[in-house]
Amino acid sequence: MISDRKLQHLEICKNYDVEHTITTGFEDINLVHRSLPEVDYDEIDTSIDFNGKTLDSPLIITAITGGHPESTKINETLATAAENMNIAMGVGSQRAGITNPELKETFTVVRNCAPEAAIIGNIGAPQVEYAYDAIEMLNCDALAIHLNPLQEIIQPEGDINAKGYVDSISEICSNVDIPIIAKETGAGISSQDAKILEDIGVNMIDIEGVGGTSWAAVETYRAENPSLGNLFWDWGITTAVSTVEVLEATNLPVISSGGIRNGLEAAKAIALGADCVGMALPFLKHSYLGHTYVEEKIKQFNRELKTAMFLVGAENIEQLQQKKVIITGKTREVLEQLEIDTKKFARRI
Ligand SMILES: Cc1cc2nc3c(=O)[nH]c(=O)nc-3n(C[C@H](O)[C@H](O)[C@H](O)COP(=O)(O)O)c2cc1C
Repeated sequence: MISDRKLQHLEICKNYDVEHTITTGFEDINLVHRSLPEVDYDEIDTSIDFNGKTLDSPLIITAITGGHPESTKINETLATAAENMNIAMGVGSQRAGITNPELKETFTVVRNCAPEAAIIGNIGAPQVEYAYDAIEMLNCDALAIHLNPLQEIIQPEGDINAKGYVDSISEICSNVDIPIIAKETGAGISSQDAKILEDIGVNMIDIEGVGGTSWAAVETYRAENPSLGNLFWDWGITTAVSTVEVLEATNLPVISSGGIRNGLEAAKAIALGADCVGMALPFLKHSYLGHTYVEEKIKQFNRELKTAMFLVGAENIEQLQQKKVIITGKTREVLEQLEIDTKKFARRI
């Protein structure tokens, strides 16, 4: 049952338009060009530390799949690319692999193909009891707990009782000894929720805001009556707004994600203060072509990011996080309504 759903999700995401009709807001985030960057392109360092592992790029392949025989090949391809390119990778919800041992290999293939890479496990908020098995299954470097109330309410068989999630996430945080990432799935995280997540011991937040894959859209294609899904297709907080909100509200490291499609958007997210970025749908689509195509995509992303770093005069990710940013348009309007001082980004030197 869960397994069939996983296959439907893959096929819908591969073959249909599942993206929001509104954008991430990164078009409102302007990096400031330097005519005197005083940087040697060849010396630009895009590496980051991810829970003790040094990764070559601040790009994460975020949770996509596992739990259906078809996902073994996809995970094998993505994990091979993650290992070869030394970037982090997340797997899809591991529940199916824990409750049905026959499907375990659809996940363990990831660790087999990527013995050194940083791997992020994945379970849903109410599934506390699966946390330990999920970590053990992959010997993962961090565990993402996904938050997806929008998908659940649109999904015909969705779990619509969201009571008690805060307690269960809190329980996982106090019982496991690897970092816990609270991860949305395409509707973004507000400052209010970010504060709650920080207070209960979450170690990192993965934004997954509006502007990329819409899970209301995916579920609309599965629903008998599409009207609810169509109405809520673009529901949520844009990735640019959510990234700033969470960075302002907490001291937690942030993965900016949801609609990130190139290295320039990543440079903007990092200049806002994010530690790294995540991308899912483009990697799913490239995975059908083989790992060399996925690796090409990562190389292209790295070139784009490094070009932006060159043009703003940033030699490394830490310097990029401090660069001047001008916030305009709707993103500025929303942030100002939230009483966030947008001008302080422009006042940076
Ligand atoms: C086919 C597919 C399956 C996904 N399954 C999961 C999942 O099991 N758990 C999860 O946390 N996110 C899952 N996601 C959500 C992504 O990790 C990500 O949050 C979302 O797609 C937005 O990023 P994007 O715009 O780069 O695709 C899935 C995404 C896709 C495309």
